[in-house]
Amino acid sequence: MKRTLITGAAGFLGSHLCDRFIAEGHEVFAMDNLITGDLKNIEHLFPLENFTFYNHDVTNFVHVPGKLDYILHFASPASPIDYLKIPIQTLKVGALGTHNLLGLAKEKGARFMIASTSEIYGDPLVHPQTEEYYGNVNTIGPRGVYDEAKRFQESITMAYHRFHGLDTRIVRIFNTYGPRMRLNDGRVIPAFMGQALRGEDLTVFGDGSQTRSFCYVDDEIEGIYRLLMSDYTHPVNIGNPNEITIKDFAEEIIKLTGTDQKIIYKPLPKDDPMQRQPDITKAKEILGWEPKVGREEGMRKTFEYFKGLSKEDLEKTEHRDFTTHNKK
Ligand SMILES: NC(=O)c1ccc[n+]([C@@H]2O[C@H](COP(=O)([O-])OP(=O)(O)OC[C@H]3O[C@@H](n4cnc5c(N)ncnc54)[C@H](O)[C@@H]3O)[C@@H](O)[C@H]2O)c1
Repeated sequence: MKRTLITGAAGFLGSHLCDRFIAEGHEVFAMDNLITGDLKNIEHLFPLENFTFYNHDVTNFVHVPGKLDYILHFASPASPIDYLKIPIQTLKVGALGTHNLLGLAKEKGARFMIASTSEIYGDPLVHPQTEEYYGNVNTIGPRGVYDEAKRFQESITMAYHRFHGLDTRIVRIFNTYGPRMRLNDGRVIPAFMGQALRGEDLTVFGDGSQTRSFCYVDDEIEGIYRLLMSDYTHPVNIGNPNEITIKDFAEEIIKLTGTDQKIIYKPLPKDDPMQRQPDITKAKEILGWEPKVGREEGMRKTFEYFKGLSKEDLEKTEHRDFTTHNKK
């Protein structure tokens, strides 16, 4: 039986990865310090014999007994609200955490994958973004703590690959959505859905002409799995290139949720990228992967999930207001 360590396992993507690797017959070691994650996302796996959970902060020394075949390092605050609130932890998990896990992979001879992000492209000057684009990142801006942690993560992973011959994979994940996203993580989809469910108007930052492209979680997990199992060691974009303006998207959400809310506009946060769209040529050619779930279907499934949450959870939703953070 293959033995796989997944960090950030109680989070959105980590928990879906746990499900996938269990379904593939692996023994899964799930690690998380629950700083932004929730045990509810993985409690259904607790009774399984081939599932073990470690409540551990990966910025401290990491040990797992016995052999390991794969390590997937997904632990990191991942939404602007989170990494603006806990900037030092964000830098540490990308830097110290990645170093600790690379050391573990070297000791075990395990294949190592990091969850990188489209944020390494910053506010891109090239559209769509290919893996060869180096990015346009403000190192000292509020988002720099996340963007630079992820860029460092890629560099140290390649250094271990070149210097120690470690078998490594780098996935550059673009906006992903689906069940188990946190309502209060400040990302656009949970924010809109929370507002629609509470009967509030939908907040659009800027004039809403900025674009995003959203990938449904099942597609994302399939792409990640295929990349891990491939022999390709350079970064690969995994995301959905189907682009939409935030204003049009807000209108889609109003239609989907059957509410008659209005859209209200607030100032655009600092360094918020105007356009994000993955070039997925590499993923298509190397992995034979492309997204299959359309936005309408994905949003419907996601809305069903949010509708099932308690009223108490709904009240906890945080608005994506960065103005106070930006003043600091
Ligand atoms: N969801 C997306 O659209 C997206 C896009 C690009 C990249 N990513 C990357 O994918 C990964 C997972 O993102 P997500 O959306 O599932 O976020 P998430 O916040 O739901 O999950 C992250 C998990 O990491 C855990 N964690 C954070 N710091 C830790 C530490 N020091 N030790 C142990 N656990 C720690 C958190 O408790 C949480 O459970 C992140 O690395 C993120 O940067 C996600």
